Amino acid sequence: MNWWQREQTESGGRAGDAAVAPSVLACDFSDLAGEIAKVESAGADLLHLDVMDGRFVPNITFGPCIVEAISRMASIPLDTHLMIASPERYLDRFVDAGSHVVTVHVEASEDPARDLRAIRARGARAGLACNPDNDFGAVRPFLDEMDLLLFMSVFPGFGGQKFMDKVLPRADTAATERERLGLDYVIEMDGGINPRTASRARDAGVDILVAGTAVFGAGDYADAITGIRGG
Ligand code: DX5
Ligand code: ZN
Repeated sequence: MNWWQREQTESGGRAGDAAVAPSVLACDFSDLAGEIAKVESAGADLLHLDVMDGRFVPNITFGPCIVEAISRMASIPLDTHLMIASPERYLDRFVDAGSHVVTVHVEASEDPARDLRAIRARGARAGLACNPDNDFGAVRPFLDEMDLLLFMSVFPGFGGQKFMDKVLPRADTAATERERLGLDYVIEMDGGINPRTASRARDAGVDILVAGTAVFGAGDYADAITGIRGG
């Protein structure tokens, strides 16, 4: 049992199933509180927050003030995905804003081991993300420093892109390596996840599925979340 499953068991949640983390990037920002309440009652396990700086990715979203406001609206854990250059400058602020997990990109960090340790030391779970054009080798040196390993299944920056099949084998490798090394990280996948691609990701060993468009673009959020979780 990994740390996420242990926490779920302790809080009476669904420890055995894959978790679903709706990305607020695709929600109606004019009714953020209402959208959060709706995905929570529809069964979301975490809330995925995409932070973009217009430098590491060609899009800008929001920063720690909004994360802090969301932490007051949400009762499920916040999964903060930093798509920003020089993330070390802001780690404390995103942890203090109420993030349960803070994830940095291996491509954006000068020293991923240092950043992962800093996130843990500040009191959050530490994640490392990897773009589709990077292989498992890019994150392998840091496996024992992380709580979460995020494989991007699209190039980060925008919602609504097509899932890239080529990333699936790296989730499988990450699950095998976790077993072999006796480690505890959870495997997350983000980008183009819908009930059909989620099923393939789960088969490859993904524990947490991030979905923006497939949840917030659906007529019924509960149906969408159940379909992604796999029943
Ligand atoms: C992409 C973001 C994703 C995005 C996913 O840069 O990291 O979290 O919101 O959106 P969909 O599910 O629409 O691909
Ligand atoms: Zn994301």
